[in-house]
Amino acid sequence: MIYLDSNATTQVHPEVLEAMLPYLSDQCYNPSSGYRAGKQVKQAIEQAREQVARLVGADAREIYFTGCGTEANNAVLYSLADMCGENRRIVTSEIEHSAILRVCEHLSERGFIIDKVGVDSGGRLDLVAWEKAVKEDGVAFATLMWANNETGIIQPIAEACEIARSAKVPFHTDAIQAVGKTAVDVREVPVDFLSISGHKFHAPKGVGAMYVRSGLRFNPMLRGGGQESGFRSGTENVASIIGLGKAAEIMQSKLDHDDHAGVAKLRDRLEKILLDRLKGVEINGAVEHRAANTAHLAFEHCEASGLLILLDEYGVACSAGSACMTGKQQPSHVQKAMGFSNERANSSLRISLSIFTSEEEIDQAAEHIIKAVEKLRRVQGGGNVGPVVIYTG
Ligand SMILES: Cc1ncc(COP(=O)(O)O)c(C=O)c1O
Repeated sequence: MIYLDSNATTQVHPEVLEAMLPYLSDQCYNPSSGYRAGKQVKQAIEQAREQVARLVGADAREIYFTGCGTEANNAVLYSLADMCGENRRIVTSEIEHSAILRVCEHLSERGFIIDKVGVDSGGRLDLVAWEKAVKEDGVAFATLMWANNETGIIQPIAEACEIARSAKVPFHTDAIQAVGKTAVDVREVPVDFLSISGHKFHAPKGVGAMYVRSGLRFNPMLRGGGQESGFRSGTENVASIIGLGKAAEIMQSKLDHDDHAGVAKLRDRLEKILLDRLKGVEINGAVEHRAANTAHLAFEHCEASGLLILLDEYGVACSAGSACMTGKQQPSHVQKAMGFSNERANSSLRISLSIFTSEEEIDQAAEHIIKAVEKLRRVQGGGNVGPVVIYTG
């Protein structure tokens, strides 16, 4: 199979697996145990903390491991909501992942007012509206994703963060689709809180981390044995944490080396073949602001759900939005926020590469996509987009 759905998840890097294996077998000790073997495991966790911290320019003491990216988002948002005093407004964007939007919905049931700021047709935050919303009275906190999971569009995060800082509003970023794929440095963009997920950059599924700027108060969601300095109790998922650390080290060296230029070149190659050979193809989003690995393309007169079925038959895996929304019966909220019609939203594909994608796979995938689009257009008569069966992000 040609796997082009790396924004949904990635394969565990062989070196990551190798680093993890001892902790799934003989190094089984509890890191909280007082004997030497336990302390060694604890030390390995601390090394992983250093590796993750380095990837985002943080101090290791500001990194706390979690069970996934969703947990990191939930833990930060509920903590902020618990400690907001009289402030009852939350500022976010219209294009967030459900791991932010559903928490906001829940908080609105608890009396918070949610202010969702829109984006332009390129998928980038409306900074004027953001500033207005953040500067309202009574803002508890602001949260904005660093890069969008559907389009790969990198948000004007430095500007949004600066606006929040100048208004003295705590600022969180869901950086799950950015970390490991583009430069993320909390010294350059001084966010207060940041969420990370391992499986988006070749660590295993079910491990994440949150960055909490040193000195900030935090109200933990999980209480118990006081692991992770009390910010996230529960015996550590040692092997996965070690894997997350190793993956962070690998991705940092790729970013330092060529900023994923090789991945971007392959993504651009695919787009060029499709744009040259097919009519009615458009790139969704501001091309100059994309994560290197993501292409989001609209195929006129071609229903994405049909395309995905054909591509699956041809052995190509990609998606029309985020994996967790697959099959939902509404157009993508991200594409609607960008002002796209239902037709365009429903005829768009997300193609996301990884460091393991090869040129040969890209060339083969391009042929399959062309064949699938031509076939569907013949069947659908070139003008009819057909019923709405939707995937979103
Ligand atoms: C932007 C974004 N936030 C949050 C998540 C959830 O992360 P996890 O799967 O680790 O819970 C994802 C995963 O798709 C994502 O893309």
